[in-house]
Formats: sequence, structure tokens, C-alpha cells
Amino acid sequence: MSESADHLDELLASRATKPTRQVDPCTIVIFGASGDLTFRKLIPALYHLALEKALPTPYRIIGYARRDKTDDSFRQELREALTQFSRTKPVNDDVWTEFAKNIVYCQADISDPAGYEKLRQIIQSSPEPRLKENLLFYLSVQPSLFGEIASRLSTVGLLKKEEGLTPDRLIIEKPFGHDLASAQELNAELIRFCHERQIFRIDHYLGKETVQNILMFRFSNAIFERLWHRESIDHVQITVSEKIGVGSRGGYYEEAGAMRDMVQNHMLQILALVGMEPPASVEAENIRDEKVKLLKSVRPMTPQQVLENVVRGQYFAGEVDGEARPAYRSEPKVKPTSNVETYTAIRLFIDNWRWAGVPFYLRTGKNLPLSASEVRVQFKAAPNILFSARTQLDPNSLTLRLQPNEGITLRFNGKVPGAGTELRPVRMRFSYDSEFGAYTPEAYERLLLEAIAGDATLFIRRDEVETAWSIVDSIRTAWIGKSLTNREFYSAGTWGPSAADDLLARDQREWRNPQPAK
Ligand code: BG6
Repeated sequence: MSESADHLDELLASRATKPTRQVDPCTIVIFGASGDLTFRKLIPALYHLALEKALPTPYRIIGYARRDKTDDSFRQELREALTQFSRTKPVNDDVWTEFAKNIVYCQADISDPAGYEKLRQIIQSSPEPRLKENLLFYLSVQPSLFGEIASRLSTVGLLKKEEGLTPDRLIIEKPFGHDLASAQELNAELIRFCHERQIFRIDHYLGKETVQNILMFRFSNAIFERLWHRESIDHVQITVSEKIGVGSRGGYYEEAGAMRDMVQNHMLQILALVGMEPPASVEAENIRDEKVKLLKSVRPMTPQQVLENVVRGQYFAGEVDGEARPAYRSEPKVKPTSNVETYTAIRLFIDNWRWAGVPFYLRTGKNLPLSASEVRVQFKAAPNILFSARTQLDPNSLTLRLQPNEGITLRFNGKVPGAGTELRPVRMRFSYDSEFGAYTPEAYERLLLEAIAGDATLFIRRDEVETAWSIVDSIRTAWIGKSLTNREFYSAGTWGPSAADDLLARDQREWRNPQPAK
């Protein structure tokens, strides 16, 4: 057999072991079916699940929205959007034709009780009994409508507060409130109509393969887990950098800022996965218990400590990849005197036995030179006894590259060939692409499949959201009434404000910036 045939066999074998899920017939109702998310993410994700034969047999997708459309015109619009947003091209016509047959449109207003009656009739019109019982409601609408939709669904008997194996489920998108109090209020409202285990809160980072791999990697490799604590680790850097500015989302961003938009959810989720203890099992509740425990161990900060340990930043005009970018304050719908952070860097500590004394540095920002998310675990330096006179040894590090260029890099020192004893850092790289082929499902594919299957592991539980808000609230409170200083502005296209460099320099450390893909 030729080498390439060998390789193909391996590839197919690895694909064959891709976990498949046993899923029951299910009706998926999308509220906000005329919205951007439906066209860009939800329908492409469901289409790909259909393409991979991962959807249950049968299934039904009902789009609920106000605009006047027929089933056919709705399908036609979705087909056009798919051409644009599908991750695989061209769209497979046979699969699409079969897929489209399962889609229907329910034209109705969210606040019109008659709309829910109409929806109930559409659901009940199915000849397949399971499609009338196994219901998944995707609320792709603004959070202020979550409670109303849940209440109206409950009134017509479509959302039942129940404990069964696959009860009716609600999927909701962030923001889950804008602070702890509003998150508690939202949660309390939803819990009147369903149990916590019926609420699936999406953080799309948890749908990313590489983010899921953090736990798999940690708890299946003894060599690393043995080093995963304060005895061996000097510090951890978590970077989520984005090349994009806020663009047309200025209105939303003025309310959110990087702290609410990225830290409260994605970054604290990554932190929890990197730092948590091994769960009792891979059951959803056990994993989520450990994540909450970790978040609860984040050391609280007084307002003065926030000012010393958390940096805000805001971009002014600059260039990213040779393209001119306006200052944040000149973006549409942004106040010209805005103090909203488009960047933040945090130095925090986790007060538990594993991590006592190990700083975690988190940073995220818009209009940075690269879009990259990675976790860099920096190990303690070797004693340097043998080589101290000649060379400065680079401490070992392990970088989990979450996106792009997905993979893991271990960095250590190697001897430069030749007669001398010169050393320099070298790397061992694992890349998803070369190991597994270009299998890059969208986060929404995995998340929708899990919700269809009724598995909540990759979704955020109420206490996780609330604990994350209490961390973020204490930081944001310390900023109230404080304007940004000069050291907190950065040019678009640079790695953030100088205050963020000072944050690490104080600890005799420096940021390690993600590298462009080779
Ligand atoms: C979203 C934020 O949750 O995540 C956006 O609202 C951000 O501001 C996006 O750009 C980043 O997601 P990804 O998958 O592109 O890293």
C-alpha cells in the first residue's frame, strides 16, 4: 500500500471514531427566525448535521418570526443564505432538498398569544408522536423577551416544567443579564416555567473542539497533569485577541465593553477548564460543579486591588494589516467621550491548594494585530546551574492554540548543533490539521446536537453565570466614574496599551504574543 493510501486509511479510521450521538426525533423551534443568527449560524449548522446524517429521524424545524413569508419563500431565503455561509461549498442539492422538506414557517408576533396557539397546531399536525413531545426552543431574540416567550409557551402547554429524560428545552444566547442582579432576575423568571436542567445557555466557545479538548488533554495525559499545579507552573496567560474592531456593533458594545462581552463568558470559561479539578465523572453536573468551584476560588479584589490588577484599554485610530481603522470613539453609535474598554488585561489568583500563588493573566481586545485565542502555561525555570555563565535558559511552556492554527506546542531548550554548548528554545508541535485532517465543525453544530440529545455538559449552568458575574461586577464597580488615562489607549493594530505591559513587568514577566500561522 502506498504511503498516501496508508494515510487515507488512518484518516478514515479517525473519522469513523468521531463520536456520534443517539438522538430521538425532535422538533426544533427557532424564535427570531428572520434574524442574522438563523441565517449565518443555525441553519448552516443544522444543514451540516443533516449532511453528516447526525440529525434524528425524523426531525422538524419550525421558524417563528413576524415577517410575512410562506414555507417556500422562507426555505428559499435559507437556501440563499446557505450558499453564502455554509462552511462547505458547494451546497449539496440532494441533502438540501431533503433537509428543506423538514422546515416550516410560523408567521406570528412574539407577544401575540394567537401565535403560540398557531405554533401548537403546527407542532400537533405532525404524524410522528415523538415530534409532538420532544421540543427544543431556540430563543434567538433579545434577552428581554426570554421570560415572555417562556411564559406564553407554558400557557399553551408547549413548555412543561418536567423532569423526564428529554424534557422540553430552551436554548438561550448571551447576554444572560448585564450584571449579577439582572442575571439572577432573568434566571428566577425562567425558573417559573421550567427547571434549570431544561435551560441550555450557550457559550459558543464551549462548542469549539479545542476548548473541549482542554479537559480531554488535561485528564487523559498523566505527564502534563502531574505538572499542572503551583509546584511546576510559574504562571498562565490566556489571550483572546481579535483583529476586528467593533464595526457596526457600537451600540451594543457601549453597553457591554470587553469585560461583559468576552471576559464574563468565554474567558472565564476557558479559565475554569484550565484550572478546575478532575470531575467525579464526565456527567454534565459533575463537570459543571468543578467549574463553579474553580470560579468561586478566584480571589475577590477590593476596588483598590482592581485598579492595581486590571487594565482597561481603548483603541484609537491605527492600521490593521495595512487597513486604516478609526478610533473607537469615532465608530458609529459610540459616544465621542466614551470610556468603554475595547481591551482588558487581568491579573488574578485562584485561592486553592493547586493554584495558590500562581498568577493567571487574562487579556482580550479588539483591533489587535492577530485574531488568536490561546492558553500559555509557563513552567518554572530550570535552576540554570550548568549553563548559567553562558546562556539565559528559556523556561518551558505549553501553549494550547484554541484558534486558528489549532493545536498544542511544547517549548523546551535544545542544543544548537556544533562544538559549543549553545542552547536555544525549540518546539514540538501538534496540529489538528495534519493529525486529523481539515475537520473543522462550527461550534453551533456540536452545541445544537448536544441540545437535541438533551446533554447539558457544554452549556452554562445558572450558578456558573452568576459566579462569573460576581467576578466581573466587582471589577466594573471599581471603574465607575474613572476616565481612561493616556496609558490605557492603544493604536489599532498594536498589542494593547502600555499599562498592560506594565502589569506583567511588575512581576518580571512579559506577554507572549500569539504567532501568525506558518
Ligand atoms: C462573541 C462576542 O461572543 O464572540 C464578539 O460578542 C466576539 O464580540 C466573538 O467577536 C468572538 O468569537 P470567535 O468565535 O470569533 O472567537
